[in-house]
Amino acid sequence: MSDLLKPVTAFLARDHGLFIGGDEGPSSGGERFDVLDPSSGLVISSAASGNAADVDAAVAAARAALPVWNATSPARRAELLWNLGVRIEELADEFAQLEALDNGKPLSELHIVDIPLCASLFKYYAGWVTKIEGETIAPMSGAPFHIYTRREPVGVVGAIIPWNFPLLMCGYKLGPALAAGNTVVLKPAEQTPLTAIRLMHLMAEVGFPPGVVNLVTGFGPNAGAPLAAHADVDKITFTGENATGQKILEAAKGNMKRLSLELGGKSPNLVFADADLDAAVAGTFGAVYWNQGQCCIAGARVFVEASIRDEFVDRLLARVAEVNLGPGLDANTTMGPLVSAEQRDRVLSLIGSGVAEGASLRIGGSAPTDAALADGFFVEPTVFTDVRPDMRIMREEIFGPVAMVSSFTDEDEALAYANDTSFGLAAGLWTSDVKRTHRVAAAIRSGVVWVNTYGWFDAAVPYGGFRMSGFGKELGREALDPYLQTKTVWVDLS
Ligand code: NAI
Ligand code: MG
Repeated sequence: MSDLLKPVTAFLARDHGLFIGGDEGPSSGGERFDVLDPSSGLVISSAASGNAADVDAAVAAARAALPVWNATSPARRAELLWNLGVRIEELADEFAQLEALDNGKPLSELHIVDIPLCASLFKYYAGWVTKIEGETIAPMSGAPFHIYTRREPVGVVGAIIPWNFPLLMCGYKLGPALAAGNTVVLKPAEQTPLTAIRLMHLMAEVGFPPGVVNLVTGFGPNAGAPLAAHADVDKITFTGENATGQKILEAAKGNMKRLSLELGGKSPNLVFADADLDAAVAGTFGAVYWNQGQCCIAGARVFVEASIRDEFVDRLLARVAEVNLGPGLDANTTMGPLVSAEQRDRVLSLIGSGVAEGASLRIGGSAPTDAALADGFFVEPTVFTDVRPDMRIMREEIFGPVAMVSSFTDEDEALAYANDTSFGLAAGLWTSDVKRTHRVAAAIRSGVVWVNTYGWFDAAVPYGGFRMSGFGKELGREALDPYLQTKTVWVDLS
């Protein structure tokens, strides 16, 4: 197990508060909640449990900071975002240890994805601050008007984020929101508040004006729901479960809030017989088990062309057997615990439904028996075969380390299986046939298709779902649009 860095130990011991208008303080109710290490179930820290009054104060602070933020020159705003990205890179070890402790994920994954991608998001959106431009438009009639558009921020943004990529999701939301000139009230997940708190310290250190980002830690019903319903919040950006997304849709209607909803998925992963099998097995392993399977893009509905199905399954089982379950902080760990006891129980119950509905459990399926892991929220990596499209494990988001492998005989059947879901977040395709690549990529109903790879993200590349997976793209230039509104100005020159 790697030793904790001194700043990490000191941070865990702090009395973390809410961050409102640049000040850190307790919740108005005085309540706190424990923060657990999911690999041991032990309490490692605690955070303030925000309520509706705290949300009111945070929204007021964000509203007050809006003119300050907009009066800050674009060059300076860009510099602040860039410098934040640089500081996250410089503090990568510290952030990685905190996140590994709070969420459970392996350090290796944090150093490959969460931390560098988060830093690159702030740097990428730093570049956009100085390039948000309106247009001049000549009217069809030729009338003597000077008409131009202004791209204005929507105003106060409420960002409600989940526990699967806690720091990274802060970057997804704050990068474009701040680049577009908005101020923010951030509500991290109650399971994983620590890196968002650390980020608030860093933003103050870098020099963001007070109130530009305010942090209300706490639970969904107490802190998330009042933010979603707040009459002075102009937009909510949310990532999480569909049922919560629907509650937020409902709550947002009172003042017609703008919404970006990044919801669940049930992504298909199609492996054709002409694929590079080594790459397909390795890529499918990552598609299913990255982040303990707690990914909205998890490509866990695996459809393999019948002629290679048995060999594919054998190789996948061999790969899964190599997994080393353990705490995220242990360098030997290749898979950590799930984030909470609740999530472990939810995943084990869905695995149980698969067994009860007649799927063949080929490996895993339980909590590990190793005594050293007994108090953590671990689930063994699991593979099912002989699954049917109507089983719960094929329809509901599992959000755990579970693959469902079945087969198809031709491309049409593969596509029918792929699209047999109400979600539409992502899809994987493994083939060496270039014509098939483009045909299938066009026919799959999802916001992302990865071909001969899976799960890549880049700050510059738009990402987001179709259908029940939500709306409002994240990342890339497109992610700025939902944080801006266009004003048209007509000037009569006659
Ligand atoms: P959740 O969607 O309830 O929680 C995400 C965030 O929403 C948290 O910050 C939470 O406090 C907040 N929240 C909860 N209820 C709220 C409400 N009524 N109003 C406003 N904010 C609210 O997800 P949860 O319960 O943690 O996980 C349950 C399942 O959701 C998982 O098993 C997984 O299937 C799915 N999920 C999907 C994610 C994704 O990225 N697509 C991320 C997290 C969970
Ligand atoms: Mg929930």
